[in-house]
Amino acid sequence: DGEVYRYYADGEWRSSASGKSVAIVNPTTRQTQYRVQACTQEEVNKVMEAAKVAQKAWARTPLWKRAELLHKAAAILKEHKAPIAECLVKEIAKPAKDAVTEVVRSGDLVSYTAEEGVRILGEGKLLVSDSFPGNERNKYCLSSKIPLGVVLAIPPFNYPVNLAVSKIGPALIAGNALVLKPPTQVSLLHSFTGGDTGIAISKKAGMVPLQMELGGKDACIVLEDADLDLVAANIVKGAFSYSGQRCTAVKVVLIMESVADAVVQKVNAKLAKLKVGPPEDNSDITPVVTESSANFIEGLVMDAKEKGATFCQEYRREGNLIWPLLLDHVRPDMRIAWEEPFGPVLPVIRINSAEEGIHHCNASNFGLQGCIFTRDINKAILISDAMETGTVQINSAPARGPDHFPFQGLKDSGIGSQGITNSINMMTKVKSTVINLP
Ligand code: G3H
Repeated sequence: DGEVYRYYADGEWRSSASGKSVAIVNPTTRQTQYRVQACTQEEVNKVMEAAKVAQKAWARTPLWKRAELLHKAAAILKEHKAPIAECLVKEIAKPAKDAVTEVVRSGDLVSYTAEEGVRILGEGKLLVSDSFPGNERNKYCLSSKIPLGVVLAIPPFNYPVNLAVSKIGPALIAGNALVLKPPTQVSLLHSFTGGDTGIAISKKAGMVPLQMELGGKDACIVLEDADLDLVAANIVKGAFSYSGQRCTAVKVVLIMESVADAVVQKVNAKLAKLKVGPPEDNSDITPVVTESSANFIEGLVMDAKEKGATFCQEYRREGNLIWPLLLDHVRPDMRIAWEEPFGPVLPVIRINSAEEGIHHCNASNFGLQGCIFTRDINKAILISDAMETGTVQINSAPARGPDHFPFQGLKDSGIGSQGITNSINMMTKVKSTVINLP
């Protein structure tokens, strides 16, 4: 409880004059694990000013050198995967093995970003004027990508390393300076995941370009001809990994009545085998990030109970630890049919046609990802086209990765498209120089 971690700016670790700190509470013990400095407004302003100055020099650093530095950073990240993963276990109760995977994935993301950056930023375009009606061949336009300037990144609590480097890497390779506001557990959960804070920020942003990854209510549509074992395995992995605290978690199952009993049975059998407990033991289900998150999840569960959902397991909670729970026969008048629990609780809505499933998916104000299970690829494509989500997975649970794939949310789920290539492009502007011949 004693040490207060300093903040890093302009090349050094600094102490804040605020005298205030923010407690990082371990979700498992519910005790303060770490303390970080709370900076003053003046300090934050100074950080932004320093970043503006540093950016000019960084943008002049040759691209190959920026790439080389990112490769080095990736190697350091991987080399120190154990202590970094340990922090993830203590700060956000990420299962130990998943925590290591996150750090390694992040190193790979940074390396890939360096490679992709030298390719796409190393190329420009030459346009000639006579392709447009009325022009002679007397204008040559050279266009290339230039940095935006200073990028502010606010990653969420659930991937503090990976969703930080997915902004840091693209920003730096493109010649931007970056200010990172690391996630504090509580500030994220009741803001960003629901989307409201993101929407409020976008209203204030004015002319500042934005890229946002917000909440989701990813639907899993299951048709009669689906491979039911594949469905059950993906529902469990998709909805319950990291205790459902992923924006891309399966958050509602929309399943044809004729196969619902069989799938519910298979999912229940798998849930019974999940290990529930502390992250240090590599449990599958670990405590959710904060007590208020656990209370919110419980609120959704109780609402479903009052309105008559079928509980496939007994509801059980100890502190922030909530046992995996499948709620069957959920109806649209229940909150959990629409709201995002960000916890190990999954509603099942039985449907009688694919159209009913599409309708429920599209009635959500979120539109991150969705998935369809069927052996009929033509049907899958038609349903995918009809689903108003940024990505549709056919015969697999939603997921952001591999990290170079485009990743975007429609409606309240976000702004812009991530994925390594898209993020690099997003963090640049186009600059043209036109040579006019006499
Ligand atoms: O929580 C949001 C993350 O972007 C999800 O990433 O699909 O790799 O778990 P993931």
